Amino acid sequence: MNTKTTVRTLQAKKARGEKIVMLTAYDAVTARWAAEAGCDMLLVGDSMANTVLGYPTTIPLTLEESIFHTSAVRRGAPDAFVVGDMTFMSYQLDVNDAVRNAGRYLKECGADAVKLEGGREMLPVIRRMVEVGIPVVGHIGLLPQSINKDGGYRIHGRGEEEARRLTEDARALDEAGVCSFCMEGIPRELAAAITASVGVPTIGIGAGGGCDGQVQVIADLLGLAPEGGFLPRHAKNYARLNEIAVAAIRQYADEVRQGVFPSEANSFSSAK
Ligand code: KIV
Repeated sequence: MNTKTTVRTLQAKKARGEKIVMLTAYDAVTARWAAEAGCDMLLVGDSMANTVLGYPTTIPLTLEESIFHTSAVRRGAPDAFVVGDMTFMSYQLDVNDAVRNAGRYLKECGADAVKLEGGREMLPVIRRMVEVGIPVVGHIGLLPQSINKDGGYRIHGRGEEEARRLTEDARALDEAGVCSFCMEGIPRELAAAITASVGVPTIGIGAGGGCDGQVQVIADLLGLAPEGGFLPRHAKNYARLNEIAVAAIRQYADEVRQGVFPSEANSFSSAK
């Protein structure tokens, strides 16, 4: 039986009212963890820029870096639905350029789809990608690649006018043929209403429980940042791996300094 998740699997889940679980993954290890835990979709999010690569925002991440990490995720999770997240300036300048860059995720990384940020302004790009056979996941609401324009991170769609614009963006993406779209940082009532009004599965982050699925950033979920650091309201630490990792490494360092490690069991003798 084919166990590979496809765009049809996702559509069928929406039709059955089954929640879709998406999680970011950035390398073969996190991909394997997420796949083993049963996630439906793995997003090689450009959030890797600030959560694991040490950049201040997602803006500096390059297409080459994203391609490199998307390939690693595919190798770690051969059957997962892998979404490559197009980087800032890799799809905004010109339709042909955007389609060529999107195609690299499928050809070079083996990704199943690409994600890109934006509403109606991105329709020409999305339509062309869909026409040539590239599944596209949209992304509306809070757009981290637009924080310079927006003056920072904030909830979108609170007023009537913004809510109307987001609803129109959502419908336009649906009509343009996206296979799904993310809604980030928007009021739960608006996200639920949009979800009910479109045909494709919606995936929320900071958009309440009324979406067809949820996406979280794995670094938040696993607690990779130092304790007491910023955790967005929409996120939840299901573990605190930062402290576990530091404690394990500290123990290793202590044992090396005390001559406890390596023991005989961790070394080899000249006899076989
Ligand atoms: O890069 C990312 O992790 C994302 C999600 C927040 C949707 O785009």
